[in-house]
Amino acid sequence: MASLMGVASRQTQTATLPPGQFHCLLDELPLHLIPRRPAGSQSLQQGLPEQLFLNPDCTVLPPGQVPAELEARRHLLDGFSLQRTIAWVRDPTTGSLHPFWLGAQLEAVVLRLQTGEPAPASLRNEMRSLLAEAAILTPAGHAERRLVEWSEIVRPHAQVFREKGYVPLSNLIHPFNLAALRRYYRHAIRQGTIRLGDYQSSRRYVAHNESVARFFHHQIANAVSAIAGEPVKPSYVYLASYLSGAELKKHTDREQCEFSVTLCLDFSPEPDLATSWPIRLDTPEGAVTVYQALGDGLVYRGTRVPHSRDVLGAGHTSTSIFFHYVPADFSGSLE
Ligand SMILES: [Fe+2]
Repeated sequence: MASLMGVASRQTQTATLPPGQFHCLLDELPLHLIPRRPAGSQSLQQGLPEQLFLNPDCTVLPPGQVPAELEARRHLLDGFSLQRTIAWVRDPTTGSLHPFWLGAQLEAVVLRLQTGEPAPASLRNEMRSLLAEAAILTPAGHAERRLVEWSEIVRPHAQVFREKGYVPLSNLIHPFNLAALRRYYRHAIRQGTIRLGDYQSSRRYVAHNESVARFFHHQIANAVSAIAGEPVKPSYVYLASYLSGAELKKHTDREQCEFSVTLCLDFSPEPDLATSWPIRLDTPEGAVTVYQALGDGLVYRGTRVPHSRDVLGAGHTSTSIFFHYVPADFSGSLE
């Protein structure tokens, strides 16, 4: 990420956006909140393709305008700051949308790009990298490559899920959006807009169906369907930010949690990779301990696989989002 520093340095434009609203301003990313990659993992910045094009699955919309499919579901954007131009990048595999806000510099670059034409050679390398990381710029054949990659992920993951009732799954949310979510919820907790304590723990801040989490809940539904091996629909989403001393006693979830994803969103102190607070699963083959790094998801059958966490150590905080889904034909309450 170091080479992104040239673009995303001073937070001057961020200061003009309402701090309590969600945004992911590409020109001024909170670089310190982007999860670290494991050593040796691929990055576009090493070996950026010579020719990059405006992604045909990227829609750039002016302030206030949203993709047509979201017009009918504007409530999913209640927590979004819509005062800027936003590049909405659709993942060709699951249809999920990744929104990236464009500040003055990047907006000027992106609005000049034509679909199918290569990005100009004069485009600075930091900007080229940043736009490629966001998949606003993509090499030729990007969608076809993604479809192959995704089918190679789905096949083994769906099989493990079918056999065991759980499977770890990463990359559900773009790392830039993840960094923006970390900042957004840290701010909300500091401001006291997220309440402390619920029936399961007095040591966690919680929010039920919070609007921004709800947006991502809908975006990853197709990925969960693919892993579950059947169509699912979102039931409810729950944010939980745990304080040290919190504990999650072994339990199974209610029927609204037939298919659940626990996303590891934030942790302090900043973990190198996996956090020190694993999820424990009680499976027919015995106890399983699942360590998660920031951004990792665990898909599991919440109603069938008992799960728990030990006491969170002194000086630690941990934030997760629980995305819950039910079979598409489920007719009970979704709350
Ligand atoms: Fe649970």
